[in-house]
Amino acid sequence: MNWEAIIAPYAQVVEELKVKLKGMRRQFEYEARHSPIEFITGRVKPVQSILEKAEKRQIPLERIEEEIQDIAGVRVVCQFVDDIYTVVEMLRSRKDFSIIEEKDYISDKKASGYRSFHMTIEYPVETIHGNKKVLAEIQIRTLAMNFWATNEHSLNYKYKGRIPVDLKKRLQRAAEAAFKLDEEMSKIKTEVQEAQRIFHRK
Ligand code: GTP
Ligand code: MG
Repeated sequence: MNWEAIIAPYAQVVEELKVKLKGMRRQFEYEARHSPIEFITGRVKPVQSILEKAEKRQIPLERIEEEIQDIAGVRVVCQFVDDIYTVVEMLRSRKDFSIIEEKDYISDKKASGYRSFHMTIEYPVETIHGNKKVLAEIQIRTLAMNFWATNEHSLNYKYKGRIPVDLKKRLQRAAEAAFKLDEEMSKIKTEVQEAQRIFHRK
């Protein structure tokens, strides 16, 4: 299989989404408003990981593009939990791609302790062979959720998905602490905004 040729449109999508999301962030800055977006990252799933996922899920190679939704992946990291839903609303109202699926692992966190909002989108990308619709995954999460998920991901990698029970428990406690941090920060956000409103009136 010519992997580079298969991957090329996905790399294009990741770059385009990054440009568009960074553009949103910049517009908030220009309008001197709190940006719901703190930073954006993106990646194309390495071929090795695509093959491993296909093997694990018994996906035949010719169905990879339909079945694996996260070959193109973009992550939006926010300061506050309600920023996530602001971003979600903005993405829902966009006309340049369609949303195929949404998963709210914030209101419904995973057993591991994982929290994030996921969107699977269908993105029309121009290729040298014409227009092609490809799937992409957007993960939207707070800095605290990102901190937790990054560390948990490293441990999963280290232990090949079999994290020892005691460590798993600690991770769940850490997830609880991250959740509390998000809650406390949300309260502070309201305080700050209130203070700013008072400041503007004077
Ligand atoms: P995969 O988990 O990717 O096989 O797909 P899925 O169909 O189960 O989708 P899901 O929404 O559960 O997960 C998609 C992506 O979210 C993963 O590839 C990870 O990047 C992230 N994710 C989901 N669960 C966890 C978790 O428990 N820990 C961490 N660190 N990341 C997770
Ligand atoms: Mg999963």
